Amino acid sequence: MNIRILVVGGSGREHAIVTALLKNAKTELYCIMAKKNPGITKLCRDVLIHPETDVDAVLAFAKQHNVQYAIVGPEASLAAGVSDALANAGIGCVGPLRATARIETDKGFCRNLMQKYAIGGCPTYKLCTTPEEAAEYIRNYFGDLAVKPVGLTGGKGVRVMGEQVDREGAIAYVMTLKDQMILLEERLLGEEFTLMAFVDGKTLVPMPLVQDHKRAFEGDKGPNTGGMGSYTLASKMFPFVTEADFAAALAIMQETVAALVEEGCPYKGILYGQFMNTALGPKVIEFNARFGDPEAMNVLTLLESDFVTIVEHIVAGTLAPTDVSFKSMATVCKYIVPKDYPEHPHAGDPITLGSHENTTLYYANVVEEGGVLKTQTSRTLAFVGIGASLGDAEAAAEAACRGVSGNVRHRGDIGTETLFAKRTAHMKELRG
Ligand code: GLY
Repeated sequence: MNIRILVVGGSGREHAIVTALLKNAKTELYCIMAKKNPGITKLCRDVLIHPETDVDAVLAFAKQHNVQYAIVGPEASLAAGVSDALANAGIGCVGPLRATARIETDKGFCRNLMQKYAIGGCPTYKLCTTPEEAAEYIRNYFGDLAVKPVGLTGGKGVRVMGEQVDREGAIAYVMTLKDQMILLEERLLGEEFTLMAFVDGKTLVPMPLVQDHKRAFEGDKGPNTGGMGSYTLASKMFPFVTEADFAAALAIMQETVAALVEEGCPYKGILYGQFMNTALGPKVIEFNARFGDPEAMNVLTLLESDFVTIVEHIVAGTLAPTDVSFKSMATVCKYIVPKDYPEHPHAGDPITLGSHENTTLYYANVVEEGGVLKTQTSRTLAFVGIGASLGDAEAAAEAACRGVSGNVRHRGDIGTETLFAKRTAHMKELRG
């Protein structure tokens, strides 16, 4: 008998989820997404083009197709309570309930939880209820701060003093943040890495480490984006993350899942830890309650064990490390984006693809009209190069990106030896 699974969301991350699930020949897939992703549509039995945050519509579509399982991709759907509705209807859901997803959707909840349970890796922080209170704190703080609205901002709400803004800029920024709590945290210095884990309520099984590139332009310049690309190494580790750093990061995630259980919020889904590896070890920049985008495309391209079994075991609470294995290969994911993304992206521009050998293509915010692919206002599509070495994976992804023509661009530096060496040297310098 087939296993019917609903995927909620229509970006590159969900195209990777659908592709990985379909390696199991018994899978029958359905997807609800705001725009018709051409890659996902080809792989599903049926799709509904509709906002992914409409809880009633998601539930009705799930019931129409009698799905057994659902994977919720976007944070906005988790915040809307999609998992709650599906779970109440008896559908096994990979994606935490709304109250649990606060670990991502409410940064104040996350920090207070870490503090209450004395979980390591929590930066010093101050939660402010008004812009005036935040401005006063910034004015009197000795050193640099990261300024974060507590709610969801699509990865674009953070301003780091000393990087994107000076003290006056930070004050001006908080004054624009009306009617929401503001989180001010000590600025963390080091190298960022992403550790994602499958979580069945108590057991966490980690995935290979990934490094994302948030800034819009080469050399880590320009405004923050949803993520321009990411890479993994064949070792599944990074030279700037020691075994002890990895163990500390995983322990932080395990303690967070245990704390959520204590709070009556058991976690079933994907837990995403974004860490800054500092001179003193890993500190939590933030948690996400879902796969990262683009990071999902790296790790799911490498997944060699059966994703459907992982889904079943997450839902049943029986996940074991032996359920999960990844190929020991390097990957480089590069996003093609509209030329003026993220500030003034233009939608409706035609693009054509060239040859993209040795890569996997994941469609994201792109539509097909009359056989022509057209940009939308967010990230367009991604190529994941895979190879024995980082260099091989990067060369494949870069060649595929260069083959795309249209009013688009990508970051040529992601996964290059030069950038990678810079990151490794930076960590060495920090640790002496
Ligand atoms: N890559 C960052 C995110 O998914 O939020």
